[in-house]
Amino acid sequence: MNEALIKESVAKFEALIREQQERAEKIKSEKEFVDYKNLDKLIIGVCGGDGIGPVITHEAERVLRFLLKDDVDAGKIVFNEIDGLTIENRAAVGKAIPDDVLAELKKCHVILKGPTTTPRAGDPWPNIESANVAMRKELDLFANLRPVRVPEQGIDWTFFRENTEGGYAVGSKGLNVSDDLSIDFVVTTTEGCERIARLAYEYARNNGKNRVSIITKANVIKTTDGKFLKICQNIGKEYPEITTDDWYIDITTAKLIDEKRRRDFKVFVLPNLYGDIITDEAAEFQGGVGTAGSANIGKKYAMFEAIHGSAPRMVLEGRDKFADPCSMLRAAVMLLSHIGKQTEADLLEKALDICMYSEKKLTITGRDTGCTCTEFGDYVMETVKKLAQ
Ligand code: IPM
Ligand code: MG
Repeated sequence: MNEALIKESVAKFEALIREQQERAEKIKSEKEFVDYKNLDKLIIGVCGGDGIGPVITHEAERVLRFLLKDDVDAGKIVFNEIDGLTIENRAAVGKAIPDDVLAELKKCHVILKGPTTTPRAGDPWPNIESANVAMRKELDLFANLRPVRVPEQGIDWTFFRENTEGGYAVGSKGLNVSDDLSIDFVVTTTEGCERIARLAYEYARNNGKNRVSIITKANVIKTTDGKFLKICQNIGKEYPEITTDDWYIDITTAKLIDEKRRRDFKVFVLPNLYGDIITDEAAEFQGGVGTAGSANIGKKYAMFEAIHGSAPRMVLEGRDKFADPCSMLRAAVMLLSHIGKQTEADLLEKALDICMYSEKKLTITGRDTGCTCTEFGDYVMETVKKLAQ
């Protein structure tokens, strides 16, 4: 192989090491979590995103405004609508998040974000990084919390997916060393493992969950997954009342469909890519990715989103007004809980369970055979009103 190509790649690799070393140092200097209760004014940013994103996100905003009416009227909670996180704008400036949008996002405390289109090979779009991934990195949203519940089957899982490292840390900076050799990198830091592990165990402790399962592929990906496993196990020792076990990702995907065993799982902590994959599988038991919300938590910021994509085909076929807002409404439940509005979070969650699973007076089919997104939002708000009486 051409020596010059090797040298060039080594130089790029060196730059990556320095960049990641700097990121690790930054994590060490992080302060504590923001306490939302002590703020005079809480700003909720709302980013519609692409495809069906604006429709379902604005529906969730409408429901949130309804639930938080007193605080909104008193100026204690402000909604800041941020347009511009669209694939057209991102493609025009060649950035995953345009600078002005990022500046606006940083003025908010928490963000409700609709799905954004992620360019992939063969698309008309330039190959820019995913806006989700970029936002998680820019705002250091290191924990991706994804709950999945199917009460009648005894399924009550909470996934703590590490959200800034692993295969995602430099996922768009792999090396094409030559035409025939490509190399990607997986990044794991001590600080990055410690903070996700601690959050998972604290959650387990505070929510009476007696088991945390650490999921890796440490038998093959020995260095980075090995580190993740060891650090999570060490943190687990500080929580003697919680049983820690560890599983490899392949058998875990199988055990999730084992009806006899899957109920034993409670809290999962896992590296980024495994968390991405297994949470789609898990959400399927609950009714699909359209039913699942996700919280991206950092010390300073937090972002709440759906776990599915932007469904551009629905928009092309003029069906966006029939899009299902349930994932964004589930994300809104997590947002409410995160800002300390637990009563409102519980109300919305109960209302969603009634509208989606038990009463089902209206159903969403994604087309004109079902109700519209707005009609469903109204139904949820009516149900909240009844519950609050
Ligand atoms: C998710 C999504 C994203 C991810 C994509 C859109 C980049 O699949 O939030 O799970 O891989 O994290
Ligand atoms: Mg995913």
